[in-house]
Amino acid sequence: MFHPCTIIEPFRIKVVEPLPTCSREEREAALKAAGYNLFGVQADQVLIDLMTDSGTSAMSQEQWAAIMRGDESYAGARSFRRFQRVVRELTGLKHVIPTHQGRAAERILFGVIGAPDTIIPNNTHFDTTRANVEASGAEAVDLIPEKGRDPAAEHPFKGDVDLAALDDLLAGHGDRIPAMVVTVTNNSGGGQPVSMANLRAVRERLEPLGIPLFLDCARFAENAWFIHRDEEGYQDRTPRQIAREMFSLADGALMSAKKDGFGNIGGFLALNDDALATRCRNDLVLTEGFPTYGGLAGRDLEALAVGLEEVLDETYLDYRIASTGYVWQHLADAGVPLLRPAGGHAVYLDARRFLPHVPPAQLPGQSLSIALYLEAGVRSVEIGTVMFGHTGPDGTQQPAPTDLVRLAIPRRVYTQSHMDYVVEAVKYVFEQRQSLGGYRIAWEPEALRHFTCTFEPLR
Ligand code: F0G
Repeated sequence: MFHPCTIIEPFRIKVVEPLPTCSREEREAALKAAGYNLFGVQADQVLIDLMTDSGTSAMSQEQWAAIMRGDESYAGARSFRRFQRVVRELTGLKHVIPTHQGRAAERILFGVIGAPDTIIPNNTHFDTTRANVEASGAEAVDLIPEKGRDPAAEHPFKGDVDLAALDDLLAGHGDRIPAMVVTVTNNSGGGQPVSMANLRAVRERLEPLGIPLFLDCARFAENAWFIHRDEEGYQDRTPRQIAREMFSLADGALMSAKKDGFGNIGGFLALNDDALATRCRNDLVLTEGFPTYGGLAGRDLEALAVGLEEVLDETYLDYRIASTGYVWQHLADAGVPLLRPAGGHAVYLDARRFLPHVPPAQLPGQSLSIALYLEAGVRSVEIGTVMFGHTGPDGTQQPAPTDLVRLAIPRRVYTQSHMDYVVEAVKYVFEQRQSLGGYRIAWEPEALRHFTCTFEPLR
């Protein structure tokens, strides 16, 4: 029997998009023009774009076919009913509120339930989630356990909620918590999964206190695959069954469908509580649109309805998680400091250990991501002091707990040879690491500074 070791892409390519070409000199000029912020670099000056796995998926032939069936009626569109049916079947949740992307669902939910003097806990808030919680006046508290804090520690479910910290928070401030969120997989914590046992333990703590649990489920299918692969008792369960069990423990879900929805745009808020759903829909109409389209075209709803089903395909998920692991393993074998173990959607370089001579206040993650772009045209994203730190009153940088560089892998977009190129690029920069210096922030806005701030090299 032929037992191949190669995990092939479970698709073949029908439409091709040429990769842009851009010389090192052009990239150097692009960096200067962008104030050394990779968010300011034009995409056609990027060879391999690993900035995000969000909205960057390749759609399938079934999704493109569904797009032609989009019903663009303002109210009561057939496409909405199809989307609603798929989300209900997946989540078991009653009210399905489409939004143009995940952060719109966040703004609506936290705008309704958040208020000054309230607390919203999460394993780790994504940046927009934190910003929307804080914009409501509420406090965003992260409850990542000890095992999740050390990038070098090897554990299967590093996305788990710290249950002891949750117990303390509930005992001290339970009456100030209008809801809790668990992010699956935990993006800011390294794309690490949350175990079913941990989700259940969270549920058991919140339920007696009447605190609703929401899943931030942008990458629910990848989380389900990790549970299938690594959690005892789930090897015989399908990703769909596991996903349904995850959602059955929640009272609601916030989704950016730009990840595991295989959508280029889209999101939703799903809820069981009738009164809360009414309040959220009232808010939806103000900025997103009528409740049967909520900021999306009928064709988008069709594409997402197909994507949310396709993502649970076992062959796809096996390939997806293996392909991320492939990049991770080659880099680990070369001694590149990484967050361990491999995440679902991304490989995270540990910039503090990669560039030990650049102190956190001099933004080692930024330095590393700039070098990857300059040398090889690979665009990544800093997840560290730039994103989560802040400038102190004396103008120095208050570092984030970790400085990571995320290589996020778009779904069904790049082939193994693209990934081999990325591995080579990281290894090259690793060999040159002594020559990389730090950066300082030259200008920053008031909120979500990483998107628009500018930098200056320190030497
Ligand atoms: N929650 C998580 C866990 C996310 O990763 C994101 C987006 C959002 C919410 C917000 O969703 O972008 O549709 O408004 N993450 C992207 C990223 C942007 O690059 O990780 P959105």
